[in-house]
Amino acid sequence: MKKMTLAGALTGLIWLSAPSMAHIEQTEPFQSLRQSYFALLGMTFAPMGDMVKGKIEWDDARFTSWANDLHHAAQFGVERGFAPGSETGTTRAKPEIWSNMDDFQSKLDDFRAAAAQLAETAAQGDSAASRKQFVATGGTCKACHDEYKAKDYLY
Ligand code: HEC
Repeated sequence: MKKMTLAGALTGLIWLSAPSMAHIEQTEPFQSLRQSYFALLGMTFAPMGDMVKGKIEWDDARFTSWANDLHHAAQFGVERGFAPGSETGTTRAKPEIWSNMDDFQSKLDDFRAAAAQLAETAAQGDSAASRKQFVATGGTCKACHDEYKAKDYLY
């Protein structure tokens, strides 16, 4: 059996990662990382919103599975995507984030707590309570966007 050296394994990984990460802008890895995080939140939140608004039929199991996805995605440590020096580039993140990092972090914590509560509420199968907590969770997205997200790219 052919022995795989550590160096060989790493070379293989690097070779693999180049094409599979083609959608990440290599000159702006932090901007790409945080935008990927928020895009994932958005694409999980949106179908739940369609259900809450009645655009698609209410289905407790599907709603609960999206709520779990949102809760789990929320836990990802997006903080490192706001590393010092990543204020510029292709981004809608306002520079105020970096001068108010404690407040930004507390808004992120509020969102994570709301998403955790949404997953818990959804699992109980009371659609009225789920709708209410969905709206509350959306409020935590908005609270952060109002302060820290620009409508258009800044640079
Ligand atoms: C703590 C602050 C904060 C919270 C909470 C937050 N966002 Fe954002 N969001 C941002 C910032 C900042 C950006 C801009 C990132 C950038 O362009 O670098 C952003 C960008 C986005 C984007 C655009 C992503 C892209 O493709 O570039 C979407 C969609 C989005 N947020 C949805 C949501 C949803 C939905 C929620 C709640 C479920 C949420 N966000 C919660 C701060 C937040």
